[in-house]
Amino acid sequence: MLATTLARRTALGVSSNTLRTLSSWSAVPAGPPDPILGVTEAFKADKDPRKINLGVGAYRDENGKPYILGSVKKAEELLTSSKPDKEYLPITGLPEFTKKAALLAYGADSEPLKQGAVAVTQSISGTGALRIGGAFLARHYPHSKVIYLPVPSWGNHTPIFRDSGLEVRGYRYFDKKTVGLDFEGLKADLLAAPEQAIVLLHACAHNPTGIDPTPEQWQIISDIVKERKLFPFFDMAYQGFASGSTSQDAFAVRHFVSQGHQIALAQSFAKNMGLYGERVGAFSLTTADPEEKARVDSQLKIIIRPMYSNPPLHGARIANAILGDKALYSQWEGEVKGMADRIISMREKLYSTLTHDLKTPGEWGHIKNQIGMFSFTGLTPPQTKALAEKAHVYMTGDGRISMAGLNSSNIEYFAESVNAAVRGEL
Ligand SMILES: Cc1ncc(COP(=O)(O)O)c(C=O)c1O
Repeated sequence: MLATTLARRTALGVSSNTLRTLSSWSAVPAGPPDPILGVTEAFKADKDPRKINLGVGAYRDENGKPYILGSVKKAEELLTSSKPDKEYLPITGLPEFTKKAALLAYGADSEPLKQGAVAVTQSISGTGALRIGGAFLARHYPHSKVIYLPVPSWGNHTPIFRDSGLEVRGYRYFDKKTVGLDFEGLKADLLAAPEQAIVLLHACAHNPTGIDPTPEQWQIISDIVKERKLFPFFDMAYQGFASGSTSQDAFAVRHFVSQGHQIALAQSFAKNMGLYGERVGAFSLTTADPEEKARVDSQLKIIIRPMYSNPPLHGARIANAILGDKALYSQWEGEVKGMADRIISMREKLYSTLTHDLKTPGEWGHIKNQIGMFSFTGLTPPQTKALAEKAHVYMTGDGRISMAGLNSSNIEYFAESVNAAVRGEL
């Protein structure tokens, strides 16, 4: 094949360099690698047996292995034995699943849910939900095309909303000095935002900082959002991962809805059901009444149909089976709590090893106080670089670690490596 192509080129007198310049893609610039997947690549190439990957945001069990939840395994067995077909789903997905997903987020007391006024569609996990939401707001939200994101936010938020046609701006969130929430900055920036702008809020377990507002702070944020007539768009990718309770983690969403806000909501089942690659999620909007909901539904379909026609089947069936069966549901709740608790115990162990055993210089209380899968350690870019190159410990350059990558076999080595990096001894 190659020989034939070369022979043809020689016959035509065309060198491969000429072919390159003739290519339609000769001016396409190489883009930067994805910062998180780049960490994984470097980790894979490292041959040291002590190596640790704390870059990727996927749960790992006590042995450092990917974890398939028992409830998911049982749901899959039930599905297999029922021999379901492989037909297309409707454009907005499996209706039984989306109904249950909305119930999980909004709660049984939710007024818009009781009134049949929540428009909901299945999505390609949380990313797809955000993308549908961005496209819907860009097309139909009449008041603004500006969305405010916390600084910092999940790295994919900016490209998702830019590609959706929105203008992205930031509001203060993280205070470097306290390694905590910059609540004064957050309030000032939201108060100064133009009326009716869109504001993206991480519902719980903020990524990358691991810092959430308290319930009292959420109430104040809700009041500011109301005063400035901002439009709240919640990203809830970690329901259950913050506290171990799915209803406790839905506090912010439910509080905003109870205060009469209309909201947009992106849900993911990647983390809380461990269904990462199955791509199970939902996007919803609260509307005024069932008639308005029906109009919104029709426009959601118009956005989705040309993007991917309809969503995948298998993961939605698994989530539906778990959410719809009492025994599976309570098993799942226990498993979510188990994952959250293991992460919390790693936080405590890391804090006490750094502070009490190694007397590492600095204040490490934030490791214990942060919430969810991630911790913003406060390690500097040179320290994270030294940790990767000298200690085989990989994390993102901003010092974010996935707590789920730590376990009782590697946590001491990790703490000793951090201690050495902070003391400049690596
Ligand atoms: C804040 C946040 N939102 C959304 C997502 C989307 O994840 P997925 O598309 O896998 O559901 C993630 C994943 O890391 C995230 O951290």
